[in-house]
Amino acid sequence: MASFKDLHFTPAEFTNTAKVNKHLFSELESDGLIRTVRKRIGNVDRKMVTLEDMQNYFRILRANPDVFSPVSTDAAPASAQAAEDATSQPVAAATRFIPQPPKNKIQMLYNVKGGTGKSTLAAQYAMRASMLGLNVLAIDLDGQGHLTVNLDILDAHERPTIYDVLINDLPIANAVMNVAPGLDLIPANLGLCNIEIPLNNKPRREYRLSEAIKKIAHNYDLIIADTNPAASILNSSMLVATNLVNVVCATNPLSFHGMSLVMATIEGMEREFGHELQVKIIPNMYDNREVISQEVLGELRSQFSEFCTKAVVNRSADLNEATKRRTSVWDVSTKGVAAQDINSLTEELIRN
Ligand SMILES: Nc1ncnc2c1ncn2[C@@H]1O[C@H](COP(=O)(O)OP(=O)(O)OP(=O)(O)O)[C@@H](O)[C@H]1O
Ligand SMILES: [Mg+2]
Repeated sequence: MASFKDLHFTPAEFTNTAKVNKHLFSELESDGLIRTVRKRIGNVDRKMVTLEDMQNYFRILRANPDVFSPVSTDAAPASAQAAEDATSQPVAAATRFIPQPPKNKIQMLYNVKGGTGKSTLAAQYAMRASMLGLNVLAIDLDGQGHLTVNLDILDAHERPTIYDVLINDLPIANAVMNVAPGLDLIPANLGLCNIEIPLNNKPRREYRLSEAIKKIAHNYDLIIADTNPAASILNSSMLVATNLVNVVCATNPLSFHGMSLVMATIEGMEREFGHELQVKIIPNMYDNREVISQEVLGELRSQFSEFCTKAVVNRSADLNEATKRRTSVWDVSTKGVAAQDINSLTEELIRN
């Protein structure tokens, strides 16, 4: 079973992600902007782009703004099809999609309600952002360890977690492991479920996580924490550390019902810690065939209009399959709705 770090992309998948005309692929290759390898698929040798080469392509673009004239992602062609229309452009002008480092470097996926899709979206967001050449750190703050498992780490019971950092004074860098090129993780295991009492007894308890993250933040473009479904001290600590709170709300009535409590908790934290938070609400598991799903999405957008992301994550078998296979949705289907949804969500969360 392939994991995220082994992902390879066909030239069509690459040009789709990079939003360039597919006819420019060979020019990108001859200009040294993209490298390819030969990979045997079935009994055919195919030209493929490795994950690392995809990341390097975006890094070259970001490092050479004069050559590639960075245009904000807003101005980039909305689709590969739009990019395709610009057939006569020289390569440098056509490569206008340059994912810039996120406006909010430290982000968290949050909801006190369980099962809304926090760990799934945290993992997919982290993998997608790292595909775009950003250096990403994922932090698992849930003893269930689902972000850890989603990133295909199965030996977390033997590894240090944020417990060791916050309670036993382990330097945070020693809790970081590499998962794939451009993607690091502080994993979690069941032991993290016991953190609340010892953390409660520590001085400056809610500030310890923030202070620890600050020590390694310079190594990353983006830090994404997955949180536990509770009003815990660990989650409060992450609310102190974060710049952006991404509340994942499933488009069902109970999830919607819990939103007022979630927003009140965030406001309470802002007051208590004097720390203004950016908030986004991500509608997840949307099913346009279900009236109830449509109604909840409508309510979310009218009651929390300034917070809702434009991107909606549909309920999809691809995301479940990616969870089962512990990999990126791109490994399941690059053209499916789930890949498109995660792509739109990632671009929106990076941009704002
Ligand atoms: N958009 C989606 N489409 C289909 N399945 C989804 C989607 N989002 C999440 N799921 C599935 O829903 C289940 C719960 O998701 P997940 O574990 O991410 O939720 P969670 O909010 O992290 O839960 P907890 O509160 O227990 O941490 C998983 O099996 C996941 O694969
Ligand atoms: Mg979870």
